[in-house]
Amino acid sequence: MNKNLKILLIISGGIAAYKSLELIRILKKNNIKVQVILTKGGEKFVTALSVASLSEEKVYQDLFSLKDESEMGHIRLSRENDLILVAPASANIMAHTAAGIAYDLATTVLLASNKPIYFAPSMNVEMWNNPITQKNIKTLKENNYNFIGPESGSLACGEHGNGRMSEPEKILKYIMETNKKKINLNILVTAGPTYEAIDPVRYLGNKSSGKQGIEIAKAFQNLGANVSLVLGPSKENVPSNINTINIQSAKDMFEAIKKIKNIDIAVCAAAVSDWKIDSPSKNKIKKSDTDKPKINLSLNPDILYYLSTNKKNRPKLVIGFAAETEDLIKNAQEKLNKKNCDWILANDVSKNPEIFGGDNNSISLITKSNIEEWNTITKKEVAEKLASKVIESIEKN
Ligand code: C5P
Repeated sequence: MNKNLKILLIISGGIAAYKSLELIRILKKNNIKVQVILTKGGEKFVTALSVASLSEEKVYQDLFSLKDESEMGHIRLSRENDLILVAPASANIMAHTAAGIAYDLATTVLLASNKPIYFAPSMNVEMWNNPITQKNIKTLKENNYNFIGPESGSLACGEHGNGRMSEPEKILKYIMETNKKKINLNILVTAGPTYEAIDPVRYLGNKSSGKQGIEIAKAFQNLGANVSLVLGPSKENVPSNINTINIQSAKDMFEAIKKIKNIDIAVCAAAVSDWKIDSPSKNKIKKSDTDKPKINLSLNPDILYYLSTNKKNRPKLVIGFAAETEDLIKNAQEKLNKKNCDWILANDVSKNPEIFGGDNNSISLITKSNIEEWNTITKKEVAEKLASKVIESIEKN
């Protein structure tokens, strides 16, 4: 456990702010340094004096405090802490963050932060269920913000449902778990489809969305690893703190990967086109009633095979994916041997065509000695499970 963690706690306006005092107390008890920003709304529920007494630190309230801002306080506050925790997080502060609006010290710090951010929401059930709030939360999650709670139960307003801020103990536990130790590994993740040009406007592609690979990159990034994501054309959002190399074709992907040095773990989740067009036309191929265009294909480089058989710099673990429509296990085992990789995550795309672009996945994890089934779970869960399995295996060997 990281005993010297430094947290910037933002207390926004909500009745649960009274729990934040207890939260400061238990964070301090666990040797965590806590600096606090109290928003105008937060001030209505707890006083700066009680926050300062418990945190034993100055409390920050004003964006335009001359003294603090002469030291660029909003940047400094984020940089000198390991993470930002917003508890309670009102619908309002999350809406502003999701929209990138900085109007006070708290929202300015959140926008200028380069550190992990955790929200512990607290609000009325209807505010929580409001599609606008849910849309904001989706945006925040897509951008790698973390959420603790809310819990369901009776609310301060007398209503019942989702919206209670998680208890301080639970918040502490979550923060400790996710900040255990930073892993010192270079991770390569390939994701998305590749597009092989036929002419300047047409291409040979596939249905991969890139979602699973992006989630894997996020999971390793959240563990503090050094991630390089080589991503084919994808419409999915990638958090800006992930080092992403955008490519189009398999050849581009191959060239990008060859430039990445010292890869410890390679996860090849991309659906790389097996074929490329021999000589793509420089100009758009004109339609003709008499001539059908002929397309000659040649094999693309196999990136997974290249990484697995790279004698000089083979990563410690090379992990591939296998999307199969028949004989899942047999084909995946054959692929494991043929490509000389260590693990294969196999999915049967005939049973569940929604795997392409969907949020869920069913995986058989195949190693040289074992098969493990991960039945329908979210792509985020697959990613987190894979990341912790990788770490476990590296620590064992
Ligand atoms: O041979 P197949 O395409 O089914 O293998 C799938 C696995 O190989 C995936 O992990 C994919 O990312 C990887 N692959 C690759 N380069 C290719 C083709 C596939 O890395 N040219």
